[in-house]
Amino acid sequence: MSWHATTTIYQIYPRSFYDSNGDGIGDLQGIIQKLDYIKDLGFETIWISPFYCSPQEDFGYDISDYYNIAPEYGTLQDVEQLISEIHQRNMKVVFDMVMNHTSDKHPWFLESRSSRDNPKADWYIWRDQPNNWKSIVGPNGWQYCAERNQYYYASFLPFQPDLNYRNPEVKKAMFDVCRFWLQKGVDGFRLDIFNCIIKDKDFKDNPFSLFHILPSEEHPGGNFQIRKHSLNQEENFELAQELRSVINEFNHPPRMLLGEVFGGHDKIKQYLGKKQDGLHLVFLFDILYYKFNADFFRKKILEYEHHYPAPNMPTAVFSNHDQLRSIHRIGNNLEKAKLLALLQFTMRAVPCVYYGEEIGMTDGKIPIKEGKDPMVNVYSWVPQFIADRLPVGINRDNCRTPMQWNNQKNAGFSVAEKTWLPLNKDVEKRNAEEQLSDKESLLNVFKKLILLRKSSPAMHSGTIEIIHTGNKNILAYVRSCKDEKLLVLINFSKSKITNNISQPIKKVVFSIKSKKTFEGILDGFDGVILKI
Ligand code: GLC
Repeated sequence: MSWHATTTIYQIYPRSFYDSNGDGIGDLQGIIQKLDYIKDLGFETIWISPFYCSPQEDFGYDISDYYNIAPEYGTLQDVEQLISEIHQRNMKVVFDMVMNHTSDKHPWFLESRSSRDNPKADWYIWRDQPNNWKSIVGPNGWQYCAERNQYYYASFLPFQPDLNYRNPEVKKAMFDVCRFWLQKGVDGFRLDIFNCIIKDKDFKDNPFSLFHILPSEEHPGGNFQIRKHSLNQEENFELAQELRSVINEFNHPPRMLLGEVFGGHDKIKQYLGKKQDGLHLVFLFDILYYKFNADFFRKKILEYEHHYPAPNMPTAVFSNHDQLRSIHRIGNNLEKAKLLALLQFTMRAVPCVYYGEEIGMTDGKIPIKEGKDPMVNVYSWVPQFIADRLPVGINRDNCRTPMQWNNQKNAGFSVAEKTWLPLNKDVEKRNAEEQLSDKESLLNVFKKLILLRKSSPAMHSGTIEIIHTGNKNILAYVRSCKDEKLLVLINFSKSKITNNISQPIKKVVFSIKSKKTFEGILDGFDGVILKI
């Protein structure tokens, strides 16, 4: 099995990871200094959110130069050192690639917007009259530009104009950007809003729908519109294959593509290609909105097996830089977080962990009015007391607060007087140093699980089969590969449960409560991996 299918991914948001030069902002040398920490946890791949030149209106997801590095993060030399230091530790590194749009300060856009007949006039999506397409974050997607007396389309926020991939020069320019970084040794890309890239060529209006008010996984965007013609177009699936052939030019060692795509399984699985010749992996975002019960996850596992059977590999992601941290759904409870970790590292999927998730970092409490995240402009009308009660985050600053390394100043993130976002208040127990020294900590559960997963073919490449043990609060499944069979049992309730297991148990391989034997009884919120 290729490395992308068996790997474990750790996501770094560079601004918030570690500040090596005391300016209050995380940076590339900071990441380099913390590589041993990630290696020691056992992760095999690191995905880093964007650090290219950018006006930072969307903190790097608005790129103004794809070939250079934002000065607050470092230099091109630092990136080269970063790649090489990651490889020396026998890990892989995946960069974020924002192909759909640039910053409106990118020289390509500045030229494109300057007139209707400049050499880059057709590099973005321009129209005399807008159609009805909304952006994926809600409001109108079309922005007026006086110089051209025309409108340009932006799938996300107005300062992120979409490139026009129907122009072959654009495609070539962006593929060349990818080649540049592949040449430098990067092992792959996480592709930002990849499913927005190609739109309907005739600009047909999207259907109105009274029922699609709020965004959902199936119908992103909401706002009374189904994004039928502006998302997940047939040609967008083909683009995945074209990009695959670009990265295939660099096959020693093999590289990987991981797509940020959404819009329901029937659509997004098409990015993988009929012959596994598209993206290697797609994010499955529906478990970000999990319900903490066995039934929810049982259904998800079956659903993933149905839509992404082997040789495809699903992904297991609970948190990222766009959503409230997963732990908020379980009342910031570390015991329950251990169960989620057990699930995440033992289901048939590539686990993707967001920095701080391993210590149970909680969300910040930064009010909308103080938000640095540009999304707050879209939602500035939402009263704070309502925002505090919503199950989704409006101000993404709250999941981007600085990493909590230790109990010292700024939780050891930075020596600056002021950090770019304020530190959380709960650093005392939720910091890496403290948890490294506590054998029973969440962090050590992560460590044990990653190690186990790495050494067990059943865990990282085996099949999965749901088992029924007679109690609906127990999630049970068997992972198998050749002669190795492992049974995972997770008790989602707070009560002790006796399990009827027909197969003889050979050994306890892992137990959340560090038990050495198993007599069929699971304590409340306990989980085990058993060799059968
Ligand atoms: C993706 C990123 C998000 C960014 C947006 C626009 O959803 O994850 O952080 O703001 O795309 O690039």
